[in-house]
Amino acid sequence: MFLGASAGSVALAGAAHAASKAGASKGGAPFPKDFAWGVATAAYQVEGAAAEDGKGPSVWDVFSKKKGAIFDGNTADVACDHYHLYKQDIALMKALGVKSYRFSVSWPRVLPDGVGASNPKGLDFYSRLLDELHKNGIEPFCTIFHWDYPQALYKKGGWLNRDSAEWFAEYTTLLADKFSDRVQIWATQNEPQCFIGLGLLDGVNAPGDKLKYSEYLTAAHNAMRAHAKAVQVLRARAKDAKATKVGYVVAAQIAQPLTDKAEDVDAARAAIFAVGRHEWNNSWWMDPVLLGKYPEDGVAVAGKDMPKFKPTDLDEMKQPLDYLGLNIYKADNYKRGVDGKPEQVPVPPGYPRAGSDWEPITPGCMYWGPRFFFDRYKLPLSITENGLATRDQVCLDGKIHDPQRIDYMHRYLLELARAIKDGVPVTGYYAWSLLDNFEWADGYKQRFGLVYVDFQNQKRVPKDSFDWYKKVIASGGRSLQEKVAFPVTQVTPL
Ligand code: BGC
Repeated sequence: MFLGASAGSVALAGAAHAASKAGASKGGAPFPKDFAWGVATAAYQVEGAAAEDGKGPSVWDVFSKKKGAIFDGNTADVACDHYHLYKQDIALMKALGVKSYRFSVSWPRVLPDGVGASNPKGLDFYSRLLDELHKNGIEPFCTIFHWDYPQALYKKGGWLNRDSAEWFAEYTTLLADKFSDRVQIWATQNEPQCFIGLGLLDGVNAPGDKLKYSEYLTAAHNAMRAHAKAVQVLRARAKDAKATKVGYVVAAQIAQPLTDKAEDVDAARAAIFAVGRHEWNNSWWMDPVLLGKYPEDGVAVAGKDMPKFKPTDLDEMKQPLDYLGLNIYKADNYKRGVDGKPEQVPVPPGYPRAGSDWEPITPGCMYWGPRFFFDRYKLPLSITENGLATRDQVCLDGKIHDPQRIDYMHRYLLELARAIKDGVPVTGYYAWSLLDNFEWADGYKQRFGLVYVDFQNQKRVPKDSFDWYKKVIASGGRSLQEKVAFPVTQVTPL
C-alpha cells in the first residue's frame, strides 16, 4: 500500500484492540445501529444576516472587509442566507435522511458584546432552528464556538486576556439555559489550532494578527481553559445532565504509515503525537484537555516562550469528556527512517488532490487517525467533519456531477468502517458540508457542499453526492460495499 490509496483491507500492526461490535447493524456493515450519520455547517459560513436583528460584529465581519484578506474580496454578509432559509435547508437534510445536524451558534448574534445583555431575536433564531430540527426528527449537535469571536471581546484582549475563559463560560451558560432542553450533544470549540494558530499567529484568518510566540501560546492556554469552563457549565446546568454529551473538536493532524509494517506504524504513531510547530500538531491541544498536562517535547520546543500560568490550571483544564471530535481531511505519510526516527515521505508529483490545494487524498487517515487517537485518549470518537472541495458546476443537464467527492467519501468511509470493525468506537460521521458555503479566507472559491448553492440567487441544487450519501445513510453503510456507477450527463441533442 502506498499513501493509503487502497480502500481495501490492510493487515493490522501495532497494538490490538478489543473489538466491541455490540450494536453493529446487520448485513456486514460495522456501523452501529444508532450511528449518527450527519452533516455539518458553521454559523459564519452559512447564516449571512451579518448585521441583522441586533447581531453584533464578529472578528470575521471586520476581517473580511480588509483589502486582500479574502479571495476576490468576498464576504459572508449573505453567505447561504441560512438565517432566512433554514427551513428549506432542514427540508434538504430531511430528504437526505440525516440523523443529526452539527451547527454552531454565532456568539455575537446571541450576545452582541460577547458578554452582558443577550439579544432576544438572535436567541429566537436558534430556538426556531432547534424546533424545526426536532419536528423533522433530526438530532441537533451544537458547536458553541466555530471561530466567529465577538469583536467587542477582541477589543478587550480576546484570548490573550485571562478573563476570556470566564467570558466563554458566561456565553455557554446562556446557551445551556436556553437550549439544553433541546440540545444534548455539545462541542465546546471547533479546531483551536485554527482560530488561535491561523487567526493569531499566521494572520491568515480573523482577526489577522501575528502575535509573538509567547503571546500565541498564552492565547492557546486561555482557549483551553475556556473549553474546560464550558464543560463545567454544561455539566452543572444542562436540563438533563445524564443525557448530555460534551466533547471537544480538533483539526486532527493525521500521520499514517506508508506501509502496514509494524515499524512504519510505530513511526506514524510517534509522528502523530510529536510536537513540532505548536499550531499543527495534536498533543499540544489535546493533552492538557484530556490528560491534564502539556506534552514534554512541546514544552521543550516552547522554551522561554512557555506561558506562565497558575498551578491549578492544568487540573482544571482536564474535564471528563464524553467524546473527542475529529475533523479529518488528509494525512501526512511516515515510515521508519534509517536513523530509526519517523521520516515523512513526501507526496509524489501528480498525486490526487482536492480543489483546495492543501489537501492530498489519503483515505487511510480515516483508519489510522481514529485508531491512534483512541489508543492514546481512550474516548469514543465522532468524525465531526470530513469532505472534499471540488470545482463543481451546473452541467448542461442542470445537475451537478461530482464523482470525485463521491469517490473520496466512499474511500474514506470504507476506511472508517474498517476502524470500527477493528474495535475503535466511533459514534458518528458528519459530512462537511451540507451546503457550499463561505470557506473562510478562500471565500466562495471552494465548494464543499453536498448541495450546490448559486450565490447569485440562493438556489440550492443537490449534487450527485447528495443522492449517493442518502443511499449510504438509508442502508446503514451497507451500500458502501457496492461498486459505484457514476451517472452520465444527459445532454439534449443539438
Ligand atoms: C473547518 C471548517 C472548514 C473546513 C474546510 C475545517 O477546518 O472547521 O470550517 O470549512 O475545515 O476547510
